Amino acid sequence: MNAHTAVKPSIVSGLGLKESSKTAVLALLDLVLADEYLLYTKTRNFHWNVTGFHFAAMHKFFEGQYEQLDGFVDEVAERSRALGGRSLGSMREFLSKARLTEAAGDAGKKESAMIAELLSDHEALVRSLRKDVDECGRLGDQGTADFLTGLMESHEKMAWMLRSHLS
Ligand SMILES: [Fe+2]
Repeated sequence: MNAHTAVKPSIVSGLGLKESSKTAVLALLDLVLADEYLLYTKTRNFHWNVTGFHFAAMHKFFEGQYEQLDGFVDEVAERSRALGGRSLGSMREFLSKARLTEAAGDAGKKESAMIAELLSDHEALVRSLRKDVDECGRLGDQGTADFLTGLMESHEKMAWMLRSHLS
């Protein structure tokens, strides 16, 4: 047996990640992707259904936010693929994995209630991501820890934009 046959080759071993770490990080990325997709859908819902005196401004503001979330969805899904995993890709999977909850109906919901709900979701996501970053570091996946740190900062900024409407 030579050095080449002693170690079973795999895509991920070439990245220097233990198989157990890869599995744990991919499971964590599934949760993040589900949360991002749910929040994207909720923000798009509010873009469509917002009413009131500030309609034009809020319609546009929510559009800017869901476009950012759309980009995050793609980045998280492709991070899973880069680590050798499979990305979630169905509404059923997103709903079963999401840590956030769907909007409970929007009939008559005031724009301030929409903003407060989105703010609460972004803040919850920041708290989850803060723990996820630590977990990735513990698992030896510095790349995903760095990626999720950037994502957390983006949500902190989006939360600020939302919070500024309420003060
Ligand atoms: Fe639109």
